[in-house]
Amino acid sequence: MHTCPKLNTRAHNGLMRAIQAMSPGSADVLAWNEVDRPACGPDDVIVQLHAAGVNFIDTYRRSGVYPMDYPHIPGAEGSGTVVEAGANADIAVGAKVAWAFSHSSYAEFVAVPAKECIPVPDGVDLDIAAALPLQGLTAHYLVRSTYEVKAGDTILITAGAGGVGGLVIQLAKLHGAQVITTVGSPEKAEIAVGHGADHVLDLSTMSDLTTEIPAAVRAIVPEGLAASYDGIGKDTFDGTLACVKPRGIQVLFGGASGQVAPFDLQRLNAAGSIFITRPSLGAYIATREELRWRAEELFSAIAAGDLNVPIGLALPLSEAQRAHEALEGRETTGKVILRAH
Ligand SMILES: NC(=O)c1ccc[n+]([C@@H]2O[C@H](COP(=O)([O-])OP(=O)(O)OC[C@H]3O[C@@H](n4cnc5c(N)ncnc54)[C@H](OP(=O)(O)O)[C@@H]3O)[C@@H](O)[C@H]2O)c1
Repeated sequence: MHTCPKLNTRAHNGLMRAIQAMSPGSADVLAWNEVDRPACGPDDVIVQLHAAGVNFIDTYRRSGVYPMDYPHIPGAEGSGTVVEAGANADIAVGAKVAWAFSHSSYAEFVAVPAKECIPVPDGVDLDIAAALPLQGLTAHYLVRSTYEVKAGDTILITAGAGGVGGLVIQLAKLHGAQVITTVGSPEKAEIAVGHGADHVLDLSTMSDLTTEIPAAVRAIVPEGLAASYDGIGKDTFDGTLACVKPRGIQVLFGGASGQVAPFDLQRLNAAGSIFITRPSLGAYIATREELRWRAEELFSAIAAGDLNVPIGLALPLSEAQRAHEALEGRETTGKVILRAH
């Protein structure tokens, strides 16, 4: 039987510390509790957490936008060291792994299906490994698969100083596109330019996003965009849709400002036979091969110095409430992580 020197007394007693969302609501429903450590199923590994990544989906699940049981431990991604492996798991104890799609990551120990584990290459810091998976894999599928960005395209990505937005800018530039992005302040505009954005629209200077976003975009590219990637949702959707060129694509990938109302398909006709999609990460990492392909391309880009994963805020795991408030309050840039130690 394997014994791990890193296991602490609480873990031997079958208990650990974790954040729990006690009921649907704002960030103050998050509590730092002592709970049972997860059991290791035959297809799982137990990972001692290094850090959990914080994502908007954690806030949707906490607040009740997405149906959940309560209390639940939030958190879809993280990084750490395998301390226990199920009988069918082909990952060794001691391996450094990251993951993007498992629940209950805001905890000292996390049960992760072995097929969802991403090996962390030597030399990659475990903070970066926690920060990259969910936003990185999302940026990768948006730019490589939902619409395959290529040289000569002009694309728009919202929130270019944010997590997904900053990575989409960098990947789209690597594929030769001209990139327009949006930000909420002049300080964030500088960050987006640092990621490589060619043009930045500061939404804080606009009073009518539905008319002023397309006017600003068409001043840059009169024919319109090959692809318009909108993760802000409710506040920007009508404006970003009006930027798409005939036979181009509108990609609604999130709702940071709220969910978009039901949509009249005749608008696609009027806009010039444009396409629309509402993608989610799960469908783009459905097989282990696809997950590993995307992760390997991202880690290779980091190793080559082509992709920077900026961590804007790192807090102790116990301070998840503060992290959610910052993310929902538009205070953050780059990635937010919660460190276990
Ligand atoms: N579909 C998928 O597979 C998938 C996967 C991951 C994430 N997402 C989505 O992608 C979006 C971005 O996620 P992220 O984790 O990278 O977050 P983020 O971009 O780091 O943060 C969200 C940003 O949205 C902007 N924003 C504009 N209006 C807002 C409002 N009313 N409230 C809050 N933020 C507002 C803010 O930037 P400014 O202040 O600069 O405007 C804010 O910093 C989210 O909608 C998320 O749900 C989707």
